[in-house]
Amino acid sequence: MKSVVILISGRGSNMRSLVEAALPGRIAAVVANRPDAQGLEYARGRGIATEVVDHKAFATRDAFDAALGAAIDRHSAQLVALAGFMRVLGAAFVRRYEGRLLNIHPSLLPAFPGLHTHERALAAGVKIHGATVHFVTPELDHGPIVVQAAVPVLAGDDAETLAARVLRQEHVIYPRAVRWFLEGRLAIENGVVRVAGGGAQLEFAAA
Ligand code: GRF
Repeated sequence: MKSVVILISGRGSNMRSLVEAALPGRIAAVVANRPDAQGLEYARGRGIATEVVDHKAFATRDAFDAALGAAIDRHSAQLVALAGFMRVLGAAFVRRYEGRLLNIHPSLLPAFPGLHTHERALAAGVKIHGATVHFVTPELDHGPIVVQAAVPVLAGDDAETLAARVLRQEHVIYPRAVRWFLEGRLAIENGVVRVAGGGAQLEFAAA
């Protein structure tokens, strides 16, 4: 059975959606870069191994990345799933896990990479917003798109209401993407992800 290491920085609701999805694989460990990441408590409560690699304890990104890689490798997982993991990872780390490193980002990439996506979507006046699960490449919030969820931006939305609407869909599409990976159904052809046997790579949620 394949196994997954999940990386978190905070609340961990996406981690929780993966744990509760009854995926065809084992959650080998949850690793956080902050000792106070709330999600750790939930993982411990579920009997999942946890590790903290505190980025503040390392002088350089490379040293942090090396310690993070060592923590991941202790659990010999086939897949590393970033779930609200808020540290930028260096190119060497990303290459080491290339093709088995997934991320969820709260926008319809390639729009709004980086932080504060909901505020920026509102400021831009877009009418559709959403979330993306993608393979991680060295360029931040780029990489082959596995699945996207689109939600409407409604009159009267603020960053909180919009974030909540997007988050509900994150919890739908991330388990779906991880399931496909664990089933060995994802292939990347010229930078585009195909799902063997088909599968909905777009979710559209009305308000
Ligand atoms: C999510 O919106 C995720 O897409 C983004 O940060 C948030 C983390 O939420 N990268 P949680 O920790 O999974 O609850």
